[in-house]
Amino acid sequence: MEQLTTQNGYWDRVAGEKRFSHPLQLNWLTRHLASRREESRILDYGCGYGRMLAELKLVGYQKIVGIDFSAGMLARCRLQLPGSLLARNDGRTIPLSNESVDAVLLFAVLTCIPDSNEQHSQMAEVYRILRPGGLLYISDLLISDDLRNRERYESFADIYDCYGVFELPEGVVVRHHRREWIDELTRSFVQLEFETFPVTTMNGNVSSGFQYLGRKIQQ
Ligand SMILES: C[S@@+](CC[C@H](N)C(=O)[O-])C[C@H]1O[C@@H](n2cnc3c(N)ncnc32)[C@H](O)[C@@H]1O
Repeated sequence: MEQLTTQNGYWDRVAGEKRFSHPLQLNWLTRHLASRREESRILDYGCGYGRMLAELKLVGYQKIVGIDFSAGMLARCRLQLPGSLLARNDGRTIPLSNESVDAVLLFAVLTCIPDSNEQHSQMAEVYRILRPGGLLYISDLLISDDLRNRERYESFADIYDCYGVFELPEGVVVRHHRREWIDELTRSFVQLEFETFPVTTMNGNVSSGFQYLGRKIQQ
């Protein structure tokens, strides 16, 4: 919990200045969501300042909710999107009932959760709140092979006991992922879509992004 709390302070500090850019492919949702837009309940988990809530609203999704553990991000979101349904969480649990949402967006959130056990716990929470057959849409970062990234993965691998976890000079720990790790995290879902793409990070660097869409397997 300690690491999550420290990270939360970072997101509050930068809430007013950062810009996020992982693209939302609305056609993935229309292709795979069984329910109509007006009826689909969608959670944007780690919603930040709400850029995707705005996009969803614009095209007619009405039952959308944003959850984030940063009060600063939620305050910016409220200013930009008055009237949105928002909640602050503790960084660990999702304050929604079992099997209550049709889709969860998890955009650039896994990268903020460096610890493997914590990532597993978050995925269990996402699984719990999704309806049978619900969709999980992840957009995040893969391990890159360029020298700059290799050097930082190597210098922090022993400290965090994980290749791909590193500290940014501005005071936050982030993670880039192996493809096999994403398979492991999503083993309770059937993959429907997968794409890799170059993404501009919040600090203006280009990195290896991926997007995954999966359907919850009922166990
Ligand atoms: C890189 S930003 C991305 C924001 C948004 N998803 C987007 O793509 O525009 C990551 C967001 O996740 C939130 N976050 C990180 N870890 C979280 C956690 N454990 N629980 C809730 N929110 C979290 C941060 O506060 C931040 O707003």
